[in-house]
Amino acid sequence: MSQLASKVKSDFPIFTNSDLIYLDNASTSQKPQAVLDTINSVYTKSNANVHRALYSLGAKATEEYEESRKKIANFIGADSEKEIIFTSGATESLNLLAYSLSSDLSPEDEILISEMEHHSNIIPWQQLAKRTGAKIKYIPITQNGELDLSESNNLFNSNTKIVSITHVSNVLGTINPIEKISSIAHQCGAIIIIDGAQGAAHKKINVKDLGCDFYAFSGHKMLGPTGSGVLWGKLNLLDQMEPFMSGGEMIDKVTMTSATWNEVPYKFEAGTPNFIQAIGLGAAVEYLESIGMDEITDHEKELTRYALDKLQKIHNIKIHGSGSNRIGVVSFNIENIHPHDLAQFLNEYNIALRVGHHCAQPLLSKLNETATARLSTYLYNDEQDIDKLCTALQEIIGYFK
Ligand code: ALA
Repeated sequence: MSQLASKVKSDFPIFTNSDLIYLDNASTSQKPQAVLDTINSVYTKSNANVHRALYSLGAKATEEYEESRKKIANFIGADSEKEIIFTSGATESLNLLAYSLSSDLSPEDEILISEMEHHSNIIPWQQLAKRTGAKIKYIPITQNGELDLSESNNLFNSNTKIVSITHVSNVLGTINPIEKISSIAHQCGAIIIIDGAQGAAHKKINVKDLGCDFYAFSGHKMLGPTGSGVLWGKLNLLDQMEPFMSGGEMIDKVTMTSATWNEVPYKFEAGTPNFIQAIGLGAAVEYLESIGMDEITDHEKELTRYALDKLQKIHNIKIHGSGSNRIGVVSFNIENIHPHDLAQFLNEYNIALRVGHHCAQPLLSKLNETATARLSTYLYNDEQDIDKLCTALQEIIGYFK
C-alpha cells in the first residue's frame, strides 16, 4: 500500500493532535502549512493592490500574483499564462463562459451536457438557454455510472454549439473520456468545456492533450484557499469573447458613453482580484508538484479500490457506480438508514463525510435516491481512515437493528 499519507499528513496542521477522519475532500480540501505560510506572508509583507499601485509594495504583490499565474499555466500545460483567468472557483468560471458565450447562440442551437453534472455545470446553461432559446441535451449515463456515448451520433450534430462535461463525477468518481469527447465535439464544430473541479486536484492535467477549449477548476479543492479558482481557455477564443463582469482594471479606455476592454486575461478580472488567494493557490500547486500528481493519482486509485472492497463487505449497502475508471469518490446508501442520520452518527466518531444530493439532483434522481453518503479521499487519507469508517458503519448498523 502507498506510504504517501504517512509522508504528508504532518504538513497539514488540522490533523495535529487530532483524531479527525476527513473524508469530504470533494467538498473542500485541507491546507498544508506551506499554503498557510504563503497567505500569511502576503498579508504581512506584500499586501497592496495589484496592477494599480505605483510603489514597491504594489509591484511586489503584482509580481507574486503574476508569478502564480505562470505556475498554474505550467501546472496544466497551458501555452501561455495569458490563458489563465483567476476566478473565485469553478462555479464562477462556468458562469463566466455561459454569459460570455451567449452572443454566439440562437434558438436552433444546442448545448450538450451530461446526466452526471454538478449544478454548476447545469444551471448556467439552463439560464443561457432561457436567454437565447437554445436547447439543452443530456448525454445519458449507463448502469455502471459512466457516460453512455453509444448514441453520440444522435446527440452531437451540426447544431451542437457548446459541449460542457465534468472531468470527474463528484458523486460517482467516474473519470470521463475527455480526449474522445473533445474530438467528437470538434468534429461537429462545437466548443468543448471541461468542469475540472474534481479533476485538477487529483490528476495530472495537460489541457492540450485533453483537446478541450476551456477547463475550469477550484483552488480550495486542491489545497489552495477558498475564493481561488481558474478558467483556462484558448487565447484566440478568449480574445473574441465579451467580458463577464465589468468595472476596474478590465478596461482599456472609458468615456462618458462607452468603454473598450483590456487585453486577456485582465479583460475577465474586473475589480480587485482575490490576489492573495490566487498567490496561495500558486503555493498549493507548488506543493502538489513537489509530491507529484501521478503519485497522488496512484495513491487515490489504490485507496478507492481498498474502500470499495471493504464497503462491499458491509451488509445491505448499495454502492453507486461500478465503472473501473474512477478516482477518490464513493457514494453509497445503507438500507433503512437515512444518509443524514448516518452523518450525525459518524460525526460522533469524528468522521467527516458529505451526505445529501451533492449538488447533483438530476444524477441522484437517475440513481433513484434523494440523498447518498459520499466518502472522498485525498493524498493525506490512508487505509486506516477507511477501516475506521467501515467499523463505525458496522456499529451504526447495529444500533438501527
Ligand atoms: N462541489 C462540492 C461537492 O461536490 C461542494 O461537495
